[in-house]
Amino acid sequence: MYSPEQVKILQSDTSVLLKDTAAIDQGQLEILRRVLRFHEYRYYVEDDPLVSDMEYDRLFKKLEAFEAKHPELITADSPTQRVGANLTGQFATIRHQVPMLSLENSYNADDLSDWDKKVREAAGEKKIRYSVEPKFDGASISLLYEDDRLVRAVTRGDGIEGEDVTANIRQIRSIPLNAPFALYGIQQIEIRGEVMMSKASFQKFNDKQAEAGLPILANPRNAASGSLRLKDPSAVRNRGLDAYLYHISDIVLAPGKRPSELLETHSGNLALLWQCGLRSPTKESELFNSIASVVAHVGDFEAMRDTLPYEIDGMVIKVDDIALQEQLGMTSHHPRWAMAYKFKARQATSIIQSVEFQVGRTGAITPVAKIEPVFLAGVTIGSISLFNEDIIREKDLCIGDSVLVERAGDVIPNIVKPLKELRQGNEIPIIFPANCPVCKAALHKPEGESVWRCINPNCEAQVVEKMIHFVSKDAMDIRSFGESNVRKFYSLGLLPDIPGIYKLDMTQIGKLEGFGQKSIDNLTSAIEKSKTQPLHRLIFGLGIRYVGETTAKILAKKISNLWELKDFSEEQLMELEDIGPKVAGSIYEFFQAPQSKELLNELEILGLNFKGQKTALTSAGTQPFEGLTFLFTGTLEHLKRSDAEAVVEAKGGKILSGVSAKLNYLVAGAAAGSKLDKAKRLNTVNIITEQEFVDMVANNEKGRGKK
Ligand code: IVH
Repeated sequence: MYSPEQVKILQSDTSVLLKDTAAIDQGQLEILRRVLRFHEYRYYVEDDPLVSDMEYDRLFKKLEAFEAKHPELITADSPTQRVGANLTGQFATIRHQVPMLSLENSYNADDLSDWDKKVREAAGEKKIRYSVEPKFDGASISLLYEDDRLVRAVTRGDGIEGEDVTANIRQIRSIPLNAPFALYGIQQIEIRGEVMMSKASFQKFNDKQAEAGLPILANPRNAASGSLRLKDPSAVRNRGLDAYLYHISDIVLAPGKRPSELLETHSGNLALLWQCGLRSPTKESELFNSIASVVAHVGDFEAMRDTLPYEIDGMVIKVDDIALQEQLGMTSHHPRWAMAYKFKARQATSIIQSVEFQVGRTGAITPVAKIEPVFLAGVTIGSISLFNEDIIREKDLCIGDSVLVERAGDVIPNIVKPLKELRQGNEIPIIFPANCPVCKAALHKPEGESVWRCINPNCEAQVVEKMIHFVSKDAMDIRSFGESNVRKFYSLGLLPDIPGIYKLDMTQIGKLEGFGQKSIDNLTSAIEKSKTQPLHRLIFGLGIRYVGETTAKILAKKISNLWELKDFSEEQLMELEDIGPKVAGSIYEFFQAPQSKELLNELEILGLNFKGQKTALTSAGTQPFEGLTFLFTGTLEHLKRSDAEAVVEAKGGKILSGVSAKLNYLVAGAAAGSKLDKAKRLNTVNIITEQEFVDMVANNEKGRGKK
């Protein structure tokens, strides 16, 4: 897409623009837009950024500032125009230029051989090559570019007509708003592809939903298609959507232009799309000369499907030669030149035997279906969360129903739907209880929420769940405590509440079966050690509604002592990064409640660390590691990795999960492996030892490095 010369120019433009603190002038406007598009491409398509997020944001803000002063110079393909587009309201219906057909399915080698025979009959003497690529499990879309600009994006709909979702598609940063098709003489091009949500984004999205007590989405495919139909495009932006573009369905050349050679084959089409900055499956596709090698390849791919960051439900085999594709033509439903090979289903049927209602630590009541155990994608599934009452009603589930159960990759199992045609008439409706199944207090459901809650703070189930959360790995990490000990000690009356963890009568526990001196010693030292955990773990461990690990870290960074949070107003809390009114309200309520004050008092007296991570600012007024990124690899000799990472974050730095051009410091311990090799190859990363890192921290300063 970008030649080395272009990259050089864009890089030098980038540094000029970054160095210049003044506003840009009109002459720089297009340069800045080009630079931003280039960095979006490096980040979202190539996955290999050349500037830090902070630098990108600085450039972006420059453009925003200029456009705010000169609104008459804003163009629809300006990088600023992805963001904050107007509300869509409703979607207009649009006819596809070329109908969006579906694919014929095959399930085994015989199906593929039969298809291959038909293709060969039609091909006669022609040599056949098959291009094989993943069958992406997302939502299909059709994009239209005219004169290099994205002008329209439409959902598949019924294949003939779809919905205009252009405003939402513009939020997906792997889809460029501007792409240089003119270089290939193309004036107009219609492209097909799939919008996807990666497994990681899906997990993250659902975690956030769960934390906020909002409904959870069933699988990444539904998440992608649901996202496209959101009314508010800015909400789409936060969902971390991606796209793969795999088919050119229509092309209009500019007058007098000859078609590029790349347009003669499917693999060429993928290359052309890639060259124009669209994410096509070039790296994921392969060419084969025989159906036998195709069969072997799809089998290999199926074996590794779980290692991919996104869901695929099969492979698509396409005749590579476009002239031959045209010769083969299509039926009214599907092209004869392509075939989907479907992987083994991750769906099975089972029967809902009963529904239990579980009480969570915040009092949320979760209905859980107990199903006849089924073996699915490597595990036996016996119970499945139904999330909340609305979902039971929407899906119209009954006890006794035969149900379709799905497990997408490493995603939690889910009931897709009841098989209503199998109903016998003796199915029983699922009745949501009016009272807490544990303490019998009346349940409440606030206006606009979908979750019923038990609001009795002394509800046994909540007390126990809160303690389980407090000792858990991501909270206070009291090893060797765990859920079963919490339940056991509580039921024996040895552990009434959270402070009780630090007042356990070890003589009594020593009398219990299975508790020898060694386990008592381990437990005692783990409890003692937890007193020095960094404050964000304690804040998270308190189980304040809507306060997950990220929010806990943000809070801990802003205070030097936990008690300071008592003096924050809701407005002050909302000024903090990522904290909205709901979260702020919940934090405020927690710190004002008399029972919370009592709890904190006790924990402080028991010696837990209340010290926050608010650090002194350097003379320049910024935190010492502000804008710097770190990654630890190998075995550290003196530091615990999580402690070292906490120090970086406390000093304003960021921890990255992998080595990329974005990384400033790789702290390499003993036996460092591939990360160290990659950092060496990149040659932009400062590789330092554990001792050098400790020195940097002690001196509160940035090391002298490559960036
Ligand atoms: S080609 C005219 N390639 O699968 C042929 N489709 O079941 C156009 N899909 O509607 C489709 N990955 O939404 C093609 N690599 C891929 C695909 C793919 C996923 C979807 C597409 C299509 C459906 C058919």
